[in-house]
Amino acid sequence: MNSKETEDRYILPTYNNIRFPLSFVRAEGSYVEDDSGGRYLDLYGGHAVCVLGHCHPKWVEAIAEQAGTFDFYSNLCYCPVRAEAAKLMVERCYSMHQAFFCNSGAEANETALKIARKATGREYVVSMEEDFHGRTIGALSVTGFEKSRALFPQNISRWTRFLRLGDLEAFDSLDPEEIAGVILEPLQSVVGVKMAEPEYYRGLRDWCDRTGAVLIFDEVQTGNGRTGKWFVGEHWGVEPDLVTTAKGLGGGYPVGAVLANEKISATVEAGDQATTFGGGPMAAAAVAATYRIIEEEGLVEQVARLSSGVIERLGGYVGRGIEEVRGLGYLLGVRCEKPAKEIQAALLDRGILVGTSGDPQTFRLLPPLTVSEEEWGVFFAALDDIFA
Ligand SMILES: Cc1ncc(COP(=O)(O)O)c(C=O)c1O
Repeated sequence: MNSKETEDRYILPTYNNIRFPLSFVRAEGSYVEDDSGGRYLDLYGGHAVCVLGHCHPKWVEAIAEQAGTFDFYSNLCYCPVRAEAAKLMVERCYSMHQAFFCNSGAEANETALKIARKATGREYVVSMEEDFHGRTIGALSVTGFEKSRALFPQNISRWTRFLRLGDLEAFDSLDPEEIAGVILEPLQSVVGVKMAEPEYYRGLRDWCDRTGAVLIFDEVQTGNGRTGKWFVGEHWGVEPDLVTTAKGLGGGYPVGAVLANEKISATVEAGDQATTFGGGPMAAAAVAATYRIIEEEGLVEQVARLSSGVIERLGGYVGRGIEEVRGLGYLLGVRCEKPAKEIQAALLDRGILVGTSGDPQTFRLLPPLTVSEEEWGVFFAALDDIFA
């Protein structure tokens, strides 16, 4: 059996029909290679994860060194590399004060919801229609994205009030006394890349300040430099109280985190949350290396600089294959005249990987932050060919 047949035999079929028809065996920089030697320019970043590109030598070295020096002990011990990772991350995330490491985006969101409920003593949370926050039962309870929710009506959304992103007036319908927090994907990625006006996010901050609700930004995708800022609220001058992140945080090593401002940090006590693997030395080495490399290589600034050219060039196809370009930095949704799956397949034929989204006509670009101008040129040459 080849790897496809073996996976199909031994792994539950949750990914059937949505996988690339390829088996990847190697990767370097912006490229991944399949088992027959085909090379693909990865503009999907391994699912918005590989912010440093693939197998960045300094990241590989940091993880290898950690594996050979001190592999694992849980949070029952102190550990220098965890201390370093936490400091690097917290000091670059708004004016956050402390962090809790976990293993994934969904787990980070679950943790944030617990913290917000405990901090306020209130039961309900607000989330946004079309938001995606993960697939565990608590994260699903605040996920508005219908496709993920519909199959599991026994999720616990009875404690969630769903509003529409961008609609501040809808908050008037709530009883503020019962709202522990507002959680949102500030830039809704999975649904097809949607965002609101800057005034909306500022209004949200005001509403939370007035009512005492905890403002939670799910920055699982938008965090760690992806939008051309370390964290997305910097675009609008808005700071949440809690930030959740994962995906790019470890540059490809599984790790998530919740970051809290000083006021919320003060409400967290021993025993409120725990984890066996979260913040383990290997994950911490990956986080520390990722943050050091992003900074040393000026990748946040590079995204800000190059993405404006990418967005402008994509705009040049409007009316000849593309309808609209949405998003910030390297979190882009490209709505096409044709189904996104057709464009994705045409790009794949030309050796380029992009992602689809909840909108059948929108494909997503979530590339490594390291993609070069030359590599973008390869993508645009393929688009020229496809839309010719
Ligand atoms: C915005 C957002 N939140 C949460 C999650 C869940 O993260 P994970 O798959 O690491 O649990 C995702 C995953 O795609 C996401 O995009």
